[in-house]
Amino acid sequence: MILKHTCLLGLLLCGCQAVLQVSISLNKVEMSVGESKFFTCTAIGEPVSINWFSPQGERIISNERVIVHTEGVRSRLTIYNAIIEDAGIYRCQAADAKGQSQEATVVLEIYQKLTFREVKTPQEFRQGDDAEVVCDVISSPVPAVSWFYKNREITSEPNSRFQVLPTNNLQILKVGKADEGAYRCEARVEARGEIDFRDIVVQVNVPPVLSVPQQSFNATADYQESVTFTCVTSGSPDPQVTWYWKGHAIEHSEQYVLNTMNGGKSTLTVKNIKQTDGGPYMCRASNKAGSSESQLFLKVFVQPHITQLRNVTAVEGSAAMISCTAEGEPLPEISWRRASDGHSFTDGEKSKDGRVEVRGRHGKSMLTISGVQLSDWGRFDCEALSRIGGHQKSMFLDIEYAPKFQTNQSIFYSWEGNPVNISCEVKSNPAATMLWRRERFTISSQGTSNIRIHSTDGRSLLEVTPVSDRDFGRYNCTARNNIGARYQEFILAQADVPSSPYSVRMTAVSQRMATVSFMKPDSHGGVPISFYIINYRDTSSAQEWRSARTHGVQTAVVLTSLEPNTTYEVRVSAVNGKGQGEFSHTESFQTLPIREPSPPTVHGQRGVGKAYRLGLVKQDDGGMPIVEYILKYKTDKEEQWMTKLVPGMNDFALLQPLQWNTRYNVEITARNVKGLSEPTYFQFLMPQKPDITADSLFSGLGVGAVLGVGVCVLLLLLVLLDVSCFFLRQCGLLMCITRKLCSKKTSTSGKSKELEEGKAAYLVDGSKEPIVKMRTEEERVTNPEDCSPVNEPNETTPLTEPEKLPLKEENGKEVLKPDLIEIKVHTDNSIHTKQDDSKA
Ligand SMILES: *[C@@H]1O[C@H](CO)[C@@H](O)[C@H](O)[C@H]1NC(C)=O
Ligand SMILES: *[C@@H]1O[C@H](CO)[C@@H](O)[C@H](O)[C@H]1NC(C)=O
Ligand SMILES: *[C@@H]1O[C@H](CO)[C@@H](O)[C@H](O)[C@H]1NC(C)=O
Ligand SMILES: *[C@@H]1O[C@H](CO)[C@@H](O)[C@H](O)[C@H]1NC(C)=O
Ligand SMILES: *[C@@H]1O[C@H](CO)[C@@H](O)[C@H](O)[C@H]1NC(C)=O
Ligand SMILES: *[C@@H]1O[C@H](CO)[C@@H](O)[C@H](O)[C@H]1NC(C)=O
Repeated sequence: MILKHTCLLGLLLCGCQAVLQVSISLNKVEMSVGESKFFTCTAIGEPVSINWFSPQGERIISNERVIVHTEGVRSRLTIYNAIIEDAGIYRCQAADAKGQSQEATVVLEIYQKLTFREVKTPQEFRQGDDAEVVCDVISSPVPAVSWFYKNREITSEPNSRFQVLPTNNLQILKVGKADEGAYRCEARVEARGEIDFRDIVVQVNVPPVLSVPQQSFNATADYQESVTFTCVTSGSPDPQVTWYWKGHAIEHSEQYVLNTMNGGKSTLTVKNIKQTDGGPYMCRASNKAGSSESQLFLKVFVQPHITQLRNVTAVEGSAAMISCTAEGEPLPEISWRRASDGHSFTDGEKSKDGRVEVRGRHGKSMLTISGVQLSDWGRFDCEALSRIGGHQKSMFLDIEYAPKFQTNQSIFYSWEGNPVNISCEVKSNPAATMLWRRERFTISSQGTSNIRIHSTDGRSLLEVTPVSDRDFGRYNCTARNNIGARYQEFILAQADVPSSPYSVRMTAVSQRMATVSFMKPDSHGGVPISFYIINYRDTSSAQEWRSARTHGVQTAVVLTSLEPNTTYEVRVSAVNGKGQGEFSHTESFQTLPIREPSPPTVHGQRGVGKAYRLGLVKQDDGGMPIVEYILKYKTDKEEQWMTKLVPGMNDFALLQPLQWNTRYNVEITARNVKGLSEPTYFQFLMPQKPDITADSLFSGLGVGAVLGVGVCVLLLLLVLLDVSCFFLRQCGLLMCITRKLCSKKTSTSGKSKELEEGKAAYLVDGSKEPIVKMRTEEERVTNPEDCSPVNEPNETTPLTEPEKLPLKEENGKEVLKPDLIEIKVHTDNSIHTKQDDSKA
């Protein structure tokens, strides 16, 4: 290089004035695309201009890539970043002042290295498409391209799916998943021995395929139900699943749960299903190769639900329309029930009287009642029914009506000074306001000096205390509500005293009593009768009237404490608030004279054990009290009567002891001071003797008897002991008695007489007044002679004693005491000693 420059310098120095000479530093240059190089043109002589010309013959003017730089005798052409088109012969022309020009040329050859342009990897294709795997390689001269797959060269045989296209791209017909893998594109430039390759990964994408195991779903709203939709997808790459409802993508939320599982399974769970959740859902699977979608359907059933049912108020006589609206899926049928009678109405139905009619459609039903009556008031039930359930609601039909007066007492009676309540009662809906009027004036609710108004719901009392005649007359009660106004007229009339009672009659007249009965007066004078006054007097003695009054308004009164065999007169008058009315006509009657009692009335009743009980019915005593009842009784076989006296105030008599299985005749007479009644006859039969077992014995005997038996046994033992003593040792009580007997033989009779006198009660005189003697229990426990208790009931022991007097039998509980009662018997002077059985 240095040599050359030196040479050029030599040329310049020695040949300047000579001919123009032009030279270029290089005369043939090879250049690869993209390289940059420069060429220097040198002119010897005296050039005035040096220019470069392109291969196309155009003078080169500097631009961005190609720059000409001339400086004195030298001009430099720089080509940056060469391109194929830059190739050709470049000329450098120099001209001198004389117009002579010389030129030199340089040949620029540009070649292309092997270059892979935009060889993408991986390259993706849809399954089934004809794939073209691009391998864009250039060079100059053009390269030879071969393809390799799995280390084997792809040879383009006819009918093969693999073809290398003239563009060097590889075509794979109907590319499949199996064709995936790395393909090698190799390019060679024979001229330069240049070789290069690219490995291209081929991917085959499979569009999604969707399958839906279940397409339609049922659910019931508002039962916290959930539904899970499932979509199964396949495809490559794995598709993305998105869910849509009514066109909106569903995102994970409280209500929606999205899940993706192995095997391409995707689920959407809709929780807490509501009616609005029903409808079509969509499952969409998508990947690079495409997308696929499938519809699922959720049918939401909704329980029937009545959404609208209102209370209705109708005016009497008008029409009432009750509507009931229900929702639900499926839409429910609506029916009605009238609570008052349980009658049901369905769609299109009419009641018998044609007043009630039901029409409905599309979940709405209208019950129409024309000419509403008060009886239509009450509850109506609307029921909505569908396949999946029912719902019922009730409403009330209220009926408004103008006031209706409830009272039809329109006349009230009073007298001056006596307040009276004129009552005006009204039924109405809504409640009525009530007013009282006299003529044209309204009585103020505060009342006046003698008028007060007491108002309660539906009732107004006008309390009038009449002070003068002017207060009597007509009063108007007016009731008004928003339906209408009504009035009722009341009359306050002067009350009068009652008229006289009539038909005074006497009944049940006896010695001392009489019953007055009468008919109530025809007129009570306008106010109720309070009571009646009965006047009566003894006509003979011209007495003052004696007065009796009824309790309340009974029309019969018993007059008592009358004198027997006396004539009385009687009259009656009625009394009401106004005063006492006229007396009735006077009626006279005579009380009965005193006489013997009427025959007694008895009723028999079996007693306990060997006793018989006779009930004594209160009877007409003839005007004087019954002193006593005389009961005589005997068996059929016996000749003698046994007698029992019972005080007149008793209401029963007990006959005992009696014999078993025997018929008895009884004759009962009553006695008052006037004398004896006619006898009453009575018969009864004593039953068979009952079996005596220990139980019945003891129960029959009672505690006393059992005790008696025990004492007897003890005595018997003592006697045995005593007797044995008497014979064996000549000692003991028996020994003692025998000795005494032998010495004093007369003592017994006196002693027994004493005893009897001590126990007996005697008639004092002929007055027949009973003398009472009570014995105590100890005195009569045993009869030592026969070891049997004196009070044993089955033992009748007639004693030959003087008359003994009947004990007073006492009524009530006293009788229950086991006291001894002695009864006088007057036929044979014998006395029965009896014990009033405690069980009587
Ligand atoms: C949903 O309900 C309809 C109507 O009752 C019935 O025909 C259908 O079989 C039901 N479907 C399912 C999945 O239960
Ligand atoms: C309808 O009337 C009934 C009885 O009068 C009452 O208990 C109920 O509250 C009323 N309902 C409505 C919605 O007013
Ligand atoms: C009114 O009087 C009539 C006949 O006296 C009677 O049948 C009816 O029950 C009475 N009405 C009232 C509300 O008292
Ligand atoms: C009238 O009715 C009122 C209210 O009930 C009562 O206070 C008053 O005593 C009554 N008057 C008469 C005379 O009954
Ligand atoms: C009651 O009212 C009616 C109608 O207004 C009237 O004809 C009548 O005279 C009134 N009676 C009284 C006592 O005010
Ligand atoms: C009743 O009285 C009348 C005269 O007052 C008299 O004659 C008659 O004897 C009396 N009768 C009796 C049973 O007392």
